[in-house]
Amino acid sequence: MEQQITREDALTRKGYKHACHIMLYGDSSAKLFGKIPIKHIVLITVIQMQMRFDGLLGFPGGLVNPSNETLEAGLSRELHEEVGVAVPVGVDNHVSTCLSSSCPGLITHFYIKKMAESELKELETAAVAKATDHGLEVLGMVRVPLYFLRNGGGLPYFLSHSFISNSRAQLLSALQRCRLLSQGEIEKAETVPENSLL
Ligand code: GTP
Ligand code: MN
Ligand code: MN
Ligand code: MN
Ligand code: MN
Ligand code: MN
Repeated sequence: MEQQITREDALTRKGYKHACHIMLYGDSSAKLFGKIPIKHIVLITVIQMQMRFDGLLGFPGGLVNPSNETLEAGLSRELHEEVGVAVPVGVDNHVSTCLSSSCPGLITHFYIKKMAESELKELETAAVAKATDHGLEVLGMVRVPLYFLRNGGGLPYFLSHSFISNSRAQLLSALQRCRLLSQGEIEKAETVPENSLL
């Protein structure tokens, strides 16, 4: 478990690097017809993560130097580089700040922002067509499968991939915070059943 500190405390500490990442998500009216057992589902939630250049999954965002720019302006700049849209981010989008245990000297700030379906669509297009880091730092944006298949597929398989730093824990706590999954569903997501293909 990473040590949590406040955003304000983080900004008073000297000699640390800061990284800001964000979960961009929203409702989509697309139907997952026939793909998942819940046939009545109409709304699906789109959650954006990325395949990083190093082969790890993580959230969009990056290093910010608070002596040159605010954390939120820096995060918005990183989003412009990585997804091709300078999504505005405010302090009200901030959810947690941690002293990174995997990377000493690094403070990680995490944000969440809900977007409209049209904005998410625009972002997915821009991430390929406009983002200067596409194919370099970022190999592609991915949607998180927020459902459970009978063989353990869906979210449990997704979580079995490798994630940068504590981004996997950030995803799970965000799913709970945004009430996209219950505590029970999160526990289920972390257990890949024995009859799984993995
Ligand atoms: P450069 O422009 O190449 O420096 O990359 P960047 O500014 O986009 O930085 P990056 O996104 O790689 O993030 C910097 C550091 O933050 C990484 O080395 C990781 O230690 C950490 N990190 C990256 N992604 C995440 C994430 O989703 N969550 C958390 N908690 N940490 C992350
Ligand atoms: Mn096919
Ligand atoms: Mn970047
Ligand atoms: Mn980055
Ligand atoms: Mn950067
Ligand atoms: Mn860069």
